[in-house]
Amino acid sequence: MQKVKFYSGKEIPLELHKVRVVQKLHLRPIERRLDALKEAGFNTFRLSTLDVFLDMLTDSGTNAMSDNQVAAMFQADDAYAGSQSFIKLQAAVEDVLGKKYLLPVHQGRAAENIIGRTYIKKGSVVPMNYHFTTTLAHILENGGSIVELLYPDALKLQSDNPFKGNINIEKLEECLIEHGENVPFIRMEASTNLIGGQPFSMKNLMDVRVIADKYNKMLVLDASLIGENAYLIKQREEQWKENSMGDILKAMTGLADLVYFSARKLSSSRGGGICTNQKSIYNKMEALIPLYEGFLTYGGISVREIEAMAVGLRETLDESMISQSPNFIKHFVDRLDNLGIPVVTPAGVLGCHVDAMQFCDHIPQNEYPAGALAAAFYLISGVRGMERGTVSSVRDENGVELMADVELVRLAIPRRVFTLSQIEYAIDRLTWLYENRNLIGGLRFTYEPPVLRFFMGGLEPTSDWPSKLLYKFRQDFGDSL
Ligand code: F0G
Repeated sequence: MQKVKFYSGKEIPLELHKVRVVQKLHLRPIERRLDALKEAGFNTFRLSTLDVFLDMLTDSGTNAMSDNQVAAMFQADDAYAGSQSFIKLQAAVEDVLGKKYLLPVHQGRAAENIIGRTYIKKGSVVPMNYHFTTTLAHILENGGSIVELLYPDALKLQSDNPFKGNINIEKLEECLIEHGENVPFIRMEASTNLIGGQPFSMKNLMDVRVIADKYNKMLVLDASLIGENAYLIKQREEQWKENSMGDILKAMTGLADLVYFSARKLSSSRGGGICTNQKSIYNKMEALIPLYEGFLTYGGISVREIEAMAVGLRETLDESMISQSPNFIKHFVDRLDNLGIPVVTPAGVLGCHVDAMQFCDHIPQNEYPAGALAAAFYLISGVRGMERGTVSSVRDENGVELMADVELVRLAIPRRVFTLSQIEYAIDRLTWLYENRNLIGGLRFTYEPPVLRFFMGGLEPTSDWPSKLLYKFRQDFGDSL
């Protein structure tokens, strides 16, 4: 895709779409936002969208759909079995991901449930570049454990390494030798979500394939964020510069035995899928779909969404669509970085990731700096981000809390949702918060669910810091919203 150059020389991401349906937003006064935070147990997952101005919680199910996706939803073939909508989806999966056999599931973690039940047993060890929360939960649930094998650079939040999502090939081989038969598969996650949406390179995935063949292991690819990973391969990996998105995507999925995805991300719809070219893999999981999801031609997904999924999958081949979110994120990250605000670099996919450990270096990790920063940022801006740190971590079998490797606040940029002035607003408020960061204090749990605690958990501030922050905001901004 050719880049549009501005005469001024400025690098500004330019939207190659127009807005035709809009939704009104609510920017409530800071006093209301403090009450909303208290009601939500200082957990941004529990906020009502009526209290949220810019919803940067996630891109999951919140990407803007295209006109063609919405139109396709009206042609859906409602049928319990043999729906034509599913046939269209199968064709799209084969064309875009190069896999013949497709098992539909209602979302990404449902795929993880099916894969986990099929391949994980007590004592299983799954090597991977990095875990995602729901992936880890399903592996643990089935009695397995994980080994994360990154290069040291990956957890260095400020870096110029273009492929921090690469798996450490030498360590992978050592791991396979050490755990032998207990390894059911190797898992690679495209655009490693939890370390800041960082891609892996094609070269790395090719190296993994060699190792997988050498040790006769299955390679499983989590393709939820594969579109943007493929786009960054095209941008950052010399050998792939001239290839189309289609070539790159197929080369990636062609290296994996089993590919699964959350369609809430990949195809800007809802739903998910597991696909493969090996009938034996398909057969192993087939019976679980009607048991946990729905019949094999809908898998718990509405047929309308299946139509949207099929169109959305094909649209991932369109560079002007797939580049939009990474280009906005790059703008967001570069601006904050230039202002001296600690963010994960280089810019990845999914969102801008603020380094809470540095931002709030006065808050000890057991008082959840990322949780506190997410709450504080919502309070002073109405922008909802997501904690990706120790609140999102787990306890070990002795109940000891495992401190997260990184404490991040993720400000997600769903595809084609926000305008540049909205991003500028977020940058402005974050700059103010950085100047006033010493007013932010810690959090502690008041309600801690045993599994995936970050979703529904409740917390409270360790002091009256939120009121102090509110007071300072009023001093500086007067009666501004
Ligand atoms: N794998 C990855 C890499 C993901 O990012 C997600 C979801 C899943 C699997 C699970 O998919 O939500 O459809 O069940 N990520 C969302 C997020 C929740 O906000 O990053 P799901």
